[in-house]
Amino acid sequence: MAGIYFRDIYKSFGTSRLFEGLSLACPDRKYLCLLGPSGCGKTTLMRIVAGLTEPDSGEVLIGDKRVNGLPPASRNIGLAFQNYALYPHLSVAGNLAFPLRAPIRRGRYRQAEIEERVKRVAALLRIDQLLHRRVNQLSGGQQQRVALGRALIHDPGVLLLDEPVTHLDARLRYEMRAEIKLLHDRIGTTTIHVTHDQQEALAMGDLIAVMRNGRIEQLGAPLELYHEPATAFVAGFIGDPPMSLVHARLAQENGNTIVQVAGSSLSLSEALAAQANMAPSREIIVGLRPKQVALVERPEAGAVATTVYSHGRVGREQQLVLTFGRDEVHCRTSSAIHVTTGDKVWLSISLDGAKLFDAASGRALAHT
Ligand SMILES: Nc1ncnc2c1ncn2[C@@H]1O[C@H](COP(=O)(O)OP(=O)(O)OP(=O)(O)O)[C@@H](O)[C@H]1O
Ligand SMILES: [Mg+2]
Repeated sequence: MAGIYFRDIYKSFGTSRLFEGLSLACPDRKYLCLLGPSGCGKTTLMRIVAGLTEPDSGEVLIGDKRVNGLPPASRNIGLAFQNYALYPHLSVAGNLAFPLRAPIRRGRYRQAEIEERVKRVAALLRIDQLLHRRVNQLSGGQQQRVALGRALIHDPGVLLLDEPVTHLDARLRYEMRAEIKLLHDRIGTTTIHVTHDQQEALAMGDLIAVMRNGRIEQLGAPLELYHEPATAFVAGFIGDPPMSLVHARLAQENGNTIVQVAGSSLSLSEALAAQANMAPSREIIVGLRPKQVALVERPEAGAVATTVYSHGRVGREQQLVLTFGRDEVHCRTSSAIHVTTGDKVWLSISLDGAKLFDAASGRALAHT
């Protein structure tokens, strides 16, 4: 087993720069979820560990070994990519055994051991009844398990999973997540799992690295990212719904720091006022969880006027997305208020537990 380390990685494609000094560590035996929007560089980072893409500069280490320049097969990794990339002309058993028969391992495994390993990994992934089937006769979920089994069969030092469950239906996806996690708990292989699904990352990762435009926005444990987002981007990405991000302005009123938002003034707790006083500028973004905003039917002191953008029902709750100014706010209500798109409603906002970010940099004020 071994940790995976990126040190000061630079990578451009033609004139477009993707990584400019990216560093990231996935410690030994940890399960790291790489989370970020499409195009932020997740797959490229995995390809760099795997040796399928070379960085322009910077180091990649697996354990204490620098692997730059080593061919993929010499890196002792298990890879399961999004499109499975199985060999259609081979059976399930043939696909599983493939890495053991690779030229680099020629002669290392006797036929009996190959058979034994195929059986073991197939049992682990519950595909032992399918060993003689051609892979193109399998369902998507079964193919996904074969891909995972093939990644695991040679006891790799590290496991790289790129969107390993994305194409499965909701139920299978749920099952596979549980299975992969269980497998990791049992075997402990250091794993990087790429996803753009924040719920998946929260459910599976020991650590989550949130990526944006080729940069790591934040690396931390799931709850840390949820409770202490380092940037507005992370706050707007994590949680279901994520925090609502509202542009606001700091001002002074009777010697106290207050927040002005959409024409209303909101007072700050002592702790938040202390953060606000450290702000590099008056322009801030306020991060609000749904429990901090309440719908009120009539305009009342301190309530802000908003417009219903969308509404839906989840169980007994109504979930509303409201717009005011250029921002959107997620709100939940159990009351029987009837609203429809375009209606004007009022929101009472409590800043208790709110997060404050500098508007220009997006960084959390507590972190400046
Ligand atoms: N071989 C390549 N040549 C040119 N540009 C590339 C190449 N590979 C990746 N890119 C660019 O690098 C950026 C990152 O791509 P990457 O595939 O790593 O994103 P991703 O985070 O995996 O996205 P997704 O969630 O859509 O899979 C994209 O803008 C992509 O167009
Ligand atoms: Mg990708």
